[in-house]
Parts: sequence; structure tokens; C-alpha cells
Amino acid sequence: MKGSVVIGAQWGDEGKGKITDFLAAKSDVVVRYQGGNNAGHTVEVEDKQYKLHLIPSGILNDNALCVIGDGVVIDPEALINEIMYLEKEGVSVNPDKLVISDRAHLIMPYHKVIDSLSEKSKGKDDIGTTGKGIGPCYADKHERSGIRMCDLLHPDTFNEKLTANVIVKDKIINALYEGEELNSSEIYDKYMEYAETIEKFVCDTTVVLYEALKAGKKVLFEGAQGTLLDIDYGTYPFVTSSHPISGGVCVGAGVGPTAISNAIGVCKAYTTRVGKGPFPTELEGELGDYIREKGFEYGTTTGRARRCGWLDLVIVKYGARISGLTDLAITKLDTLSGMDKLMVCIGYEFDGKVIDYFPASLEDLARCKPVYETMDGWDDSVQYAKSFDELHENAKKYLKRIEEYTETRISIVSVGPNREQTIVVNNI
Ligand code: GDP
Ligand code: IMO
Ligand code: MG
Repeated sequence: MKGSVVIGAQWGDEGKGKITDFLAAKSDVVVRYQGGNNAGHTVEVEDKQYKLHLIPSGILNDNALCVIGDGVVIDPEALINEIMYLEKEGVSVNPDKLVISDRAHLIMPYHKVIDSLSEKSKGKDDIGTTGKGIGPCYADKHERSGIRMCDLLHPDTFNEKLTANVIVKDKIINALYEGEELNSSEIYDKYMEYAETIEKFVCDTTVVLYEALKAGKKVLFEGAQGTLLDIDYGTYPFVTSSHPISGGVCVGAGVGPTAISNAIGVCKAYTTRVGKGPFPTELEGELGDYIREKGFEYGTTTGRARRCGWLDLVIVKYGARISGLTDLAITKLDTLSGMDKLMVCIGYEFDGKVIDYFPASLEDLARCKPVYETMDGWDDSVQYAKSFDELHENAKKYLKRIEEYTETRISIVSVGPNREQTIVVNNI
């Protein structure tokens, strides 16, 4: 079995798109297994930048087949827009390049309406979601009232399920949020139009993956979001509604655990988070602003300013344990260049003790004070480095410290947004 998974080791936006694109050059199949268009994955090739939300970041590799698995929630309108955007950019998207699971759930207009109304009603206690309808769609899936891709291809079933849902959602929207009534026939017409475009991509993707793995093809699973946004292992309730961790692959793509031999955690050289929720090493004020501007830390999907802070190794080690990471890909080392001193969090002071694990309770987490180690900085030369040896000595020490603390080898170092600015330390 030749499967590898790329996951986010922090709160998302670690550079998974860049690393997936890089690894896709040596992959036959690239698979998204969870999340939806809440994700925003950036890939830079030569002087062109691509922003992907639903379609795997392997799409720029002509030889890789892209798969959207059953664990992904799909907004058909967003999917069609993304296909059109790629086609306009000269990237062809056809059924030889992309297949979509017939079991994947559909994001419906009422999911987006409820996402935004529910957030609004929470006031200052909102989660800070992307507003893409992700949570309400997964809620319906688990409540067993969702509508799936296979239903979209059966107009009568689709209409039946849509009508039943609209009756319930109208009641919720009216009673809880005093929102506007939904128009069922308008939704039906729109979705039937989407079906015409999408139908050709839809199939049982578990068969495609089974055959690929059986034939010894290289399959790369591309996680969205990050470990600390996982519904179970993240900073609940400030999380997304799926499993970005490596374990999400099996249920989200319909493959067995033996399909995965490597789990690669993508980790920024510092930490960022977009949306609400705890962030122990957050830097508020000038330094945080400096990192945000230098690293251009603005959301790929929503454009929101990302909160920035020092590298938190407690988090990365926690993720390494939960996802069984075999490798790390460290990104944005160049963003930290030019700083005299850097801080790295190596534990939390909690009730007079230093702990190196991540607490479940947000109340406990709020009482944790990061314990820092100070490290020497490096200059701008890192962005030009072509090998580990060419990196500034202090940058090497920084990377070594990450390896030592997390007990995970660093196999890739990214020193700029471009595909070319990638250093392979160990072959994966
Ligand atoms: P993803 O969601 O994990 O795919 O990450 P995003 O694409 O949302 O955010 C990462 C941002 O950092 C994008 O703008 C990338 O182009 C950029 N990026 C990725 N790796 C590097 C790097 O090593 N250095 C710099 N300066 N930018 C990077
Ligand atoms: P990528 O794949 C960063 C965050 C939102 C919010 C929480 C819940 O680009 O790394 P949701 O819309 O999923 O219900 O929002 O999760 N979030 C992300 N943060 N990167 C992402 O994706 C994210 N997807 C969701 O900001 O805090
Ligand atoms: Mg992103």
C-alpha cells in the first residue's frame, strides 16, 4: 500500500496546499477526505497563484487523478465556480482528472443561511465560522436527514428529501432566528441545473481508490483545516465539524488503515489561527501585526486577518501523537527571518506544574501559561536556500529543536510560497 496523508498540524492554513502540490508531482491520485469549501489552499507555480477550496491541490499535476471523497461536504455552486475558475486559468477539469463520491453530502442553501443566522444569534460568543454552511450540513448528515450526491442524480428522491428538509428548516429559521422563508422550487431548479454539470464526475470513489491502491499507485490524501480544528481533538467548540486528523482518511475516503504508510504534518514555523477560540501563544500588538504583514496572514477563503503567535510545540507534539505523524513539513521559515530572537513554547505552566500535553477543557487551557525557550534568529538568506545545508545555522538549530521536541523527523522545509522554494530533507 502506498498511501500518504498530508494534514495540518495547527489551526489550519499551514501551507497544506503548497505541500500537497509539491508531493502531487510524484503521486498518481490526490484525495480530499473531509471539510468543504471552508478550506482555502494556495498553490504558487512560477508567477501564478491558484486558490483551491474543494478540488484537491493535485489538480495542477496533469498526471494525477483527483478524488473528492465521501467525507467532504460539497456546495455544488462553489464546485462549479471552482471548475470554471480553473478552466479559465488553463487547467482542464474533466472526469479523467476529477471524480466525486456519490456518497458525499450536499451543502444546501439553508445550511448557509442557518450557519450565518446561528453565528449572528450567538453575538460575541460566535465560533467565527467561514459561513459556508459546513456545520449545519454535517449536522444533517449525522442526524440522517442530509441529501447526498447520489440523490442529486435522482430528481424525484432529491425533490422528496428537499421538500421534507425545507419544511423543518423553515420552522427553525422562523422560530429561532425570525429569518426569511425558503423557496423550495427555486432550490430544486437550481440544483437540477447543477446536476447537469456535475453528473459526469460522480461515481463510487471507493472503487477507484481500491483499484489504485491494489495496483500499487501512489495515493496522497490531502487534509483540510488542522488538528486543533478537529471536532473531537480540537479546541471544542471552536472547531470545524469534521476530522482533519489522519484518522479521518479511512472514513472520509472509504479506505482501510493499511492504505496509509506515511502521515505528514504540515506545520508553520510559527502559529496562526483564524476565527475565535483559545490560542495560548498568541501575540497581540506590534509583534503579532509584524508577523501578519510579513507572512501575509489573511484568510484564503474569507480574507479575515489571521491571529499570529509563536510556535507552540505542545500543539505539534499533541498532533504528532494523535495522527501518528511520520514526518513534518515546516513552512514559512522565511517569514521569521530578520528577527533577532524567537520564542518557542515547550510546555504550559498549569497549577504550578509544567505540562507538555494539550488539555481538553477550555477552562483548564485558559489557566495554562506558555513556557518559552528563546532561540536566536536568522537573516533573509533562508528564502534562497536550496538544501538543508544552505540554511542559516540558527534556522537549522530551530528545525532541530522542533524534531527533538516532537520526536518526528522533518522531511520538507518550505522557504517561500513558490513550488520551487521547497527543500527536501528526507525522501518520503
Ligand atoms: P493551507 O490552507 O494549509 O493550504 O494554507 P493557505 O494556502 O491557506 O495559507 C498558506 C499561505 O502561505 C499561502 O498564501 C501560501 O502561498 C503561503 N505559503 C506557503 N508556504 C510558504 C512559505 O514557506 N513561505 C511563505 N512566505 N509563504 C508560504
Ligand atoms: P484550511 O484547509 C483555517 C475555522 C474557521 C472557524 C472554525 C469553524 O484552509 O486550512 P467552519 O466554517 O469550518 O464551521 O468554521 O474553523 N476554519 C479554518 N481555519 N483554515 C481552514 O481551512 C479553516 N476551515 C475552517 O475560521 O474558526
Ligand atoms: Mg487555508
